[in-house]
Amino acid sequence: MSHNNRIITIANQKGGVGKTTTAINLATALAAIGEHVLIVDLDPQGNASTGLGIDRRDRAVSSYDLLMGTRSVDQTVLPTAVPNLSIVPSTMDLLGFEMEIAQQPDRVFRLKRALQEIALPYSYIILDCPPSFNLLTMNAMAAAQSVLVPLQCEFFALEGLSQLLETVNQVRQTVNPSLDIQGIVLTMFDARNNLAQQVVSDVRTYLGDKVYHTLIPRNVRVSEAPSYGKPAILYDLKCAGSQAYLQLASEVIQRERRRKAAA
Ligand SMILES: Nc1ncnc2c1ncn2[C@@H]1O[C@H](COP(=O)(O)OP(=O)(O)OP(=O)(O)O)[C@@H](O)[C@H]1O
Ligand SMILES: [Mg+2]
Repeated sequence: MSHNNRIITIANQKGGVGKTTTAINLATALAAIGEHVLIVDLDPQGNASTGLGIDRRDRAVSSYDLLMGTRSVDQTVLPTAVPNLSIVPSTMDLLGFEMEIAQQPDRVFRLKRALQEIALPYSYIILDCPPSFNLLTMNAMAAAQSVLVPLQCEFFALEGLSQLLETVNQVRQTVNPSLDIQGIVLTMFDARNNLAQQVVSDVRTYLGDKVYHTLIPRNVRVSEAPSYGKPAILYDLKCAGSQAYLQLASEVIQRERRRKAAA
């Protein structure tokens, strides 16, 4: 079955590099531009759900139920304060998922099946992954058409990146031959830091036009926003971080147009 939604997974096995911040703010920016967007929170930490203001009491059903096959997307989805942006929240139940289905032959394809079950009314589906190559991340990579990689501008960034690209290759050879790299986005960039400048230039040399032109700056407003249950773009539209995420969304859309034109 073919659907018109673009499924992008936000992944990096390294913790704290800006995956969730990118998922929330890219999704919000895409919705602001007029796309219909769904976030699926696949991290037991539930940061994307919290950052979008979803109260824990409202998470009676979650991405866990989706993966277990006991609920469909329309039974788990919740609206957010952002028009055109919905979320399937997560709970700590996800911690049990890996053990509970480790023996099932279809364990990697649970999310893919759930997203294909019915035609979903979203032009973009954004998957927020935990910081590990576990079964949750593998479900995301099996379900997605592309991977968007947030990379923090720091010394070990490239090392982690080659591991990630290696994993994407393995996924291609096994569970998802058409998985593409959507792009690499450099996060928490601090222009006053010489090392950060060096990392940007190394990453661009190594990966060329896979790297988005947009640099996401380190910005205190971006880090404050989740504690108000709001995307940065709602919390402070004018701040440099929000503006960068809007710019990133327009780059993502441009890439999509080019990809569709080439197809
Ligand atoms: N551009 C930014 N400016 C300032 N702080 C940021 C920025 N991006 C992210 N942060 C902060 O850095 C921390 C890690 O970000 P985030 O939670 O998005 O990373 P993550 O990769 O999803 O982490 P995890 O691996 O734990 O899921 C958070 O406290 C977040 O608020
Ligand atoms: Mg996260």
